[in-house]
Amino acid sequence: MEIKLVAGPFDQVQADALVAIVMEDSAAPAEVSGAASWLLDLRTSGEFTGKPGEIAILHQPKGLAAKRLVLVGGGKTGDKQHKFDAAALRRTVGGAVRTLKQKGIKTLAFLLNGFSGEAAVEGAMLGNYEPDQYKTSTDNKSLDVFCVIGPASLKDDVDRGRILGDAQNFTRDLVNEPGNKLTPTELARRAKEMADELRLDCEIMDQDRMRQLGMGSLLGVSQGSAEPPAFIVIRYKPTGAVTSKDHLALIGKGVTFDTGGISIKPSDSMEKMKYDMAGGAAVIGAMKAIGQLKPNIPVTAFIPAVENMPGGKAYRPGDILKSLDGKTIEVLNTDAEGRLILNDAITYARRMGCTHLVDAATLTGAIVVALGHVHIGAFTNNDAMLGRVMTAAKAEGEKMWHMPLDDDYKELLKSTFADLANIGGRYGGAISAAYFLKEFAGDTPWVHLDIAGTAWLDDAKPFMAKGPSGVGVRTFTKLALDWKS
Ligand code: BES
Ligand code: ZN
Ligand code: ZN
Repeated sequence: MEIKLVAGPFDQVQADALVAIVMEDSAAPAEVSGAASWLLDLRTSGEFTGKPGEIAILHQPKGLAAKRLVLVGGGKTGDKQHKFDAAALRRTVGGAVRTLKQKGIKTLAFLLNGFSGEAAVEGAMLGNYEPDQYKTSTDNKSLDVFCVIGPASLKDDVDRGRILGDAQNFTRDLVNEPGNKLTPTELARRAKEMADELRLDCEIMDQDRMRQLGMGSLLGVSQGSAEPPAFIVIRYKPTGAVTSKDHLALIGKGVTFDTGGISIKPSDSMEKMKYDMAGGAAVIGAMKAIGQLKPNIPVTAFIPAVENMPGGKAYRPGDILKSLDGKTIEVLNTDAEGRLILNDAITYARRMGCTHLVDAATLTGAIVVALGHVHIGAFTNNDAMLGRVMTAAKAEGEKMWHMPLDDDYKELLKSTFADLANIGGRYGGAISAAYFLKEFAGDTPWVHLDIAGTAWLDDAKPFMAKGPSGVGVRTFTKLALDWKS
C-alpha cells in the first residue's frame, strides 16, 4: 500500500473515499460541514452518533472530488477511561480501513484534523494486512493508497508511521510462516536480507560456532531436529560519536516450531506453535524500524533460533545440559525449551558488552491463564529498567502488567542433580519460567516480556486480522528512540 501526505485542499482530493472521524461529544470537522444536514439527520435518528465502530457512507457528496464521504465514529474526546489517544486513533483508522477495503475501496484519503499522522498511518497499514500469503485465491480485498490530508510539516510523523507499520507487518509475515517454510536457517536468511538492505551488521552463528562457545543449553533443545539451529545477531550502531556507555540488547525467542519434544504437546492446537518464534520476529522487526529511525544508543539483537522436535536424537527428560555461563540444568520437561535457548542468549549478550537487556518470548501457557490475551507479562530484576520499558509500552499502546519475581520463587527450580531444574511445578508457571531466566541475567538490568497471550489473535478484531499481532515492535523501537543515559 502506498502512503501519501497531501496538503489538500480536501475538497479537491481524488479518492474512492474521504474519511473523517466524528466524535460523539463534539462538532464534526469543519471540512464536512457541507454535509451538515445529513449529519444532523444521522445523529437525530440515532443511526450514527459518533460512537466507536460506527460508520456512515455518503455517495457522490456535493462539493467533493472524492467519490464517497465516510464518517467514522471516534467515541468521546475527554472521557478519562476511554481517552481518544494514539491507540484509539490506530484502532479507529484500522477499523475503517478493514470495513472499507471489503467494499472494494482502493484509495482512501484521511482527514487528519490535528490527530497523530504516525498512529493513523500505522492503523491503516495494520488494518490492511491479511495473513493470506499462501491462499491462491481469496475474497480479501486491500487498499492501494492511504493518503493523509494534512500539512507538509507532518512528513516526518507520517514517515515514522510508515516505517513502524511496515516493521510490524514484516514481523507478522515472519510469524505467519509455517514451520515447514520458516526453519531456523530461513529465519536467519530473512533477518540477514533485511539487515543487508538497511546496512546493519548481521552475523549468523552456526552449530559449530555455538558448540565452540559452549552453548550446551541451546544445543540440547535443537539436537532432536533435522533442521540445524541458527543464532542470529544484528547490530545497530549510531553514526557519529556515541557519548553513552549504554548498550541495549533485544533478545527474542526463536523456536520456529514447538512440538514439545519428547514431552510432546497434545495435538489440539499444536499447529499454532509456529508462532513460538514471535519474540524473535518482534526483535527482527524492531531492528528494521531502528535501522531507519536511527536512535542514539547502540542496539544489538540476539535471536536464538531452533526447532523443538522429538526423535531418536532428541534430548530427554532427565538429561543434564551445561549452559554457556557454566550452570548445569536438569531437563524435567522438554517442552520448557524457551528458557533453555534464552539463557544462553542472555549470557552471550552480556559477554558482548550489553548493559541493558530486554527479552520477548512466547514462553508460557501460564501467562495466558494469568493475563489472558490483553496484557504482556513483564518481569524484571531492576525497577528502573522496567520503568523505561513500561513508559515506552504505554506511549505505544502495548499493554503490560508487572509480575512478581521475588526470591521466594527460587526454590521452585531446585534440582537434586543439577544447579537448576528447567520447570517449577504446577503453580506460578510464568513466574518460575521468568525466575529461571533471571538466574542468568545476574546484575545486568533486564526485563522479560512473556508474549504468549498477545502475539497471536485467535479471533479477528475490527481493526486487525486474526493471526499474528506484531506485538513488541513498537515498544522496542520506542525504548531505543527515547533512551536517555
Ligand atoms: N511455547 C510454549 C508456550 C506457549 C503456550 C506459547 C501457549 C503460546 C501459547 C512453551 O515452550 C511451553 O510449552 N511451555 C510450557 C512450560 C511447561 C512445560 C512448564 C507450558 O507453558 O505449558
Ligand atoms: Zn515448549
Ligand atoms: Zn515454546
